[in-house]
Amino acid sequence: MCGIVGYVGLRNATDVVVGGLQRLEYRGYDSAGIAIYDPAAGLQLRRSVGKLSNLMIRLHEAPASGNLGIGHTRWATHGGVTEVNAHPHRDQSGDIVVIQNGIVENYLELKGRLLEQGYSFHSQTDTEVIAYLVGDYYRVCGSLEQAVRRALPELRGGNAIVAFSVREPGQLVVARLGNAGGVVLGLGEGENFVASDLLAILDYTRDVIFLEDRELAVVTGDALQISTLAGAPVERAPATVQWDPVSAAKGDYKHFMQKEIYEQPRALTDVLRGRIDLEAGTVNLEDLSLDDAALHRVSRIYATACGTAWHAALVGKFMIESLARVRVEVDYASEFRYRQPILGDDALLLAISQSGETVDTLAAMEEAREQRVPSVAIVNAIGAQAARLADGGPIYLHAGPEIGVASTKAFTSMLVANFLFALRLAQARKVLTPQQAREQLQALIELPRKAAQVLEQTAQQCEALAEHFYHASNALYLGRQINYPIALEGALKLKEISYIHAEGYPAGEMKHGPVALIDEALPVVCIAPRDPIYAKMLSNVEQVKARHGQVIAIATEGDTQMAAQADHTIFVPETAPLLTPVLTVLPLQLLSYHIAVLRGCDVDQPRNLAKSVTVE
Ligand code: AGP
Repeated sequence: MCGIVGYVGLRNATDVVVGGLQRLEYRGYDSAGIAIYDPAAGLQLRRSVGKLSNLMIRLHEAPASGNLGIGHTRWATHGGVTEVNAHPHRDQSGDIVVIQNGIVENYLELKGRLLEQGYSFHSQTDTEVIAYLVGDYYRVCGSLEQAVRRALPELRGGNAIVAFSVREPGQLVVARLGNAGGVVLGLGEGENFVASDLLAILDYTRDVIFLEDRELAVVTGDALQISTLAGAPVERAPATVQWDPVSAAKGDYKHFMQKEIYEQPRALTDVLRGRIDLEAGTVNLEDLSLDDAALHRVSRIYATACGTAWHAALVGKFMIESLARVRVEVDYASEFRYRQPILGDDALLLAISQSGETVDTLAAMEEAREQRVPSVAIVNAIGAQAARLADGGPIYLHAGPEIGVASTKAFTSMLVANFLFALRLAQARKVLTPQQAREQLQALIELPRKAAQVLEQTAQQCEALAEHFYHASNALYLGRQINYPIALEGALKLKEISYIHAEGYPAGEMKHGPVALIDEALPVVCIAPRDPIYAKMLSNVEQVKARHGQVIAIATEGDTQMAAQADHTIFVPETAPLLTPVLTVLPLQLLSYHIAVLRGCDVDQPRNLAKSVTVE
């Protein structure tokens, strides 16, 4: 996730902003930048690639000081890590600087319009498009606040921005649209703070206000004025956070798992960030060391992982085989090395691991290394062993720390990482036309917003359903094709945090055994989006109903046919068939969470489990 810090007040903004970015350093990123304003020195922009220490070296060489500043951490950008793509970005006049968290789904359309107006861009980023759009409105209205009010509603997707103009020194303008990750305002004496995460400002204040969707704040050293984007004033009392960073890190959530479920729109934005070029229809996986020729030589992929990550590997098989037309075998990592696999010299190992420390997955990577087969690791923890073992390079999730033992945001980010890898493979093998790739990428960049929509629209329904089912002693999850792994994942979520026995099954296998389990006491979750296999799922639902099972269907919004059959129907928006698992899993996470809470279970640290299994 991008890290954002802003400051206005009496201190040297450079100290506050850099200190805040350091607080966010655990997330890992590849570039950072700050913009500081001082009436005498003017606008001082410092950006660097690599770790934050490089920016600090840059600041040592060319100090910046002033009482107004913003800072941002980001990772790989198109065409490798470049300074020109690092934030902050400036508008065409050079007087307005902007930092952003999120993704502008329609940035190409906006960029085209601005290019027609004669503007020329320096970077390939969507952020620079925002800066130019604000600058364009600024030329008309002469007010940064008004320019942001007019520009933001034109953006599609979840975005949070912080901006200032040298023509209106002493104020930051902050705005949030959709779910692009949090924006927290910190209140001080004669100074105020802005950050994407509490941890960045806890050293200075505990009094905070969270900016909500479609809200804007004008922040000066003495005041915070919050309003809706439309301009209606918003009154919101500050909250005082506990000094303990761990509970502060939980924010308003009861459990880390709950927080991480709701972080998914932002996490999905971050796993995409800087990796797709919609215009060219290409994917750039910045840390992958395998070039097109090496990727073209791969004709067989062995995907290996454990638990939830193994479910992600199963979904990845569908994505890679469908998009890149490369054969994928999926193995439990704990089984892989013991079956003495014969990998072959055209093989590639794809290891998937949130922690990057799971002993079985690491052992599978060692097995590949012994057979001189290159490996790629989809991993969340920056610098973890799996990332270092992967001679083909890591594909980082950038989901931020996942504290809850039950994996949620890492799982959906793994799905997207698999999808990106599949497209990258397809690109190397020239399997898709640029237009076909663009269509897939467009569906991808709409995913964070759709995920936010699912979480918002199904939260209450899932909580109510949990009331209905939390006494159950068994549950069955059914899915087909790319949603069969989601049946497995939904069942695992339920059993690992609520201790209810749950089983995921391919729906077509029901008649070969599990149908004997069906009775009125058994909740049966059927994952049945409108996809090529829908009619089969519908008949499976009818079979369950015929035996008085209780059906909870996960269906595509508007599917009245399924709603007529199932006892309860949870709708998710339409998306590309290969991406439906990213949306269908969300209600299952919420359902298992609320059931576990009702059963009084320790949601974040379920019994007998560990976040990372580093022993066999
Ligand atoms: C997921 O909810 C579980 N906590 C567990 O199955 C986990 O996915 C598995 O242990 C693999 O962990 P890893 O992704 O860190 O390798």
